[in-house]
Amino acid sequence: MCGIFAYQGEKTDVANLIFSGLKSLEYRGYDSWGILVKKNNNAFYLKRQVGKIKEEKLPPIFSTEGFGHTRWATHGGVFEKNTHPHFDSQKQIFVVHNGIIENFNQLKQELIKKGHIFTSETDTEVLPHLAEELRKKTNDRLKIIKEIIKKIQGLNAVIFYFLNDSEFYAFKNSSPIVVGKNHDGIFLASDASALAPYINKVYFLDDGEILVIKEKNLSLFDKNGKPKKINFINLNYKVEDTLGGYKHFMIKEINEQPKVLKTIVDTQEQNLKKAANLIKKSYGSCFIGCGSAYYASLTGTYFFSKIAKRHINAAVASEFSYLADFLKETSLVIPLSQSGETIDVISSIKKAKEKKAKTLALTNVLGSTLYRLADEKLLLLAGPEKCVLSTKSFTAKLAFLYLLAHILNGTFKKGQENLKKAIKEVEKIINEREKIKKLASFLKNKEHIFILGRGVSYPVALESALKIKESSYIHAEGFPAGELKHGVIALIEKETPVIVYNPVDETYEDTLSSAYEVSARGAYVIGISSKNNSVYHQFFQIEDCADATTIPNVVFAQLLGYYMTLARGLDPDKPRNLAKSVTVK
Ligand code: AGP
Repeated sequence: MCGIFAYQGEKTDVANLIFSGLKSLEYRGYDSWGILVKKNNNAFYLKRQVGKIKEEKLPPIFSTEGFGHTRWATHGGVFEKNTHPHFDSQKQIFVVHNGIIENFNQLKQELIKKGHIFTSETDTEVLPHLAEELRKKTNDRLKIIKEIIKKIQGLNAVIFYFLNDSEFYAFKNSSPIVVGKNHDGIFLASDASALAPYINKVYFLDDGEILVIKEKNLSLFDKNGKPKKINFINLNYKVEDTLGGYKHFMIKEINEQPKVLKTIVDTQEQNLKKAANLIKKSYGSCFIGCGSAYYASLTGTYFFSKIAKRHINAAVASEFSYLADFLKETSLVIPLSQSGETIDVISSIKKAKEKKAKTLALTNVLGSTLYRLADEKLLLLAGPEKCVLSTKSFTAKLAFLYLLAHILNGTFKKGQENLKKAIKEVEKIINEREKIKKLASFLKNKEHIFILGRGVSYPVALESALKIKESSYIHAEGFPAGELKHGVIALIEKETPVIVYNPVDETYEDTLSSAYEVSARGAYVIGISSKNNSVYHQFFQIEDCADATTIPNVVFAQLLGYYMTLARGLDPDKPRNLAKSVTVK
């Protein structure tokens, strides 16, 4: 899940053009970054650096073509030698790559036997060496690329650059590549948002196609090498890359939630009705997602059972292919994904299509792979989400699933009312952030934090634990309160912090008992409820708005995670070892 960007055209400060492209793609991976631009007489400027992009600008270098990469390490540690672009022994063929070449080791051993010397630990480096080896037989670069596509296995997006010939060759299998062209030149990137500042028409490459850029011209070949017309589509993308006066994208996006939720409540009835008809016609449906999107799916299962009296499964997308044998033509698979590029979700929807099941996607990115693959789609309308931690896209998913359940139950108005109440509670909890800030500094050095909930508050506990883990790096675990006595309570000792979500609903009394059970073991109990109780050492009041209470409850955890991150001096927008869209298995 790296970011790749390339350009050829009239512009002359291409190093800085690529540099800003990489900055807008850095959410895809920020272990290291690299740029290569061609200077005069086949000379080149190559810069590879470990860590996040810090510089404002690169020194101006006269160049009209080049490419770059921002890395999320899969093969080989975070060192300069493993940073892209990689190259052949003559430094004539350069490659940037997003994905995993599953059979790289076998290819590498064959090349080593033929005398190739490798300088990195990456899977990617086999690509320029393969091209160098094939070039011994032919100088037909298209033929060489076709040969390489046949040889490699795995989900990948690759750009080759033949320096002396000033030619780029791009191809992909599942991982995204998008191209755009304007009077200034030709732009290539991992996602459309990186091209939006320059162009408004794009083409998303399909699996197996080969895109060629040479002499500022663009040509496309299908998987059999036949020339193909490029059908550009409009890219109505709002470029919004600024912090808008906030210190971090995380707190900016947390504060945007009331506006996002209001838009969904006020504008989506028709789209939701269409989706509800699809669900009514289906038999054997399943929500799928990864990370937060899976927790939103699980929350959906509770909403649909309680409100619409309808059972819909929820599955972790990376497990779905092992579960999918129940799918039939009457089944409906409902993938949830902010980015629309998460590879496990893309593979799952391809599996569903194999089984002739229908697909209804909930995604936040127009034109994403998931958006283009799904039969029906609901756009989450959360706006660009730059922070790696999903916040507004998570509550947007909950709002859509909550209203969908109410539409199926014929109580849409009631659903709208409860959500409007929930939005008020979100605004209230955001205004009470000083109190959460204090709790954050109290928890900042704790080793373990446990979060409990019952019913629909159980997936809320899971999402809350994830927000705390991926922001503050503290071990946090969410679990169904009823599971306490079956093992987890063994971990509770004096002062162990336990957050208890306890809305006054059918779970209230049982969850209160769980709070007493952990308190009896010395836990420091933090109660989130509309009703205080002496068992809580700290209490945060959130008024009940039926199952929509899940939304302000999650916002509490988002703010807690944010302030714990600041209290520990960490970066809330780019946590270590993570990336915003996971395009590798
Ligand atoms: C959430 O904060 C994480 N960034 C991660 O769990 C995320 O939800 C997951 O990778 C799924 O991403 P998606 O919604 O873009 O598919």
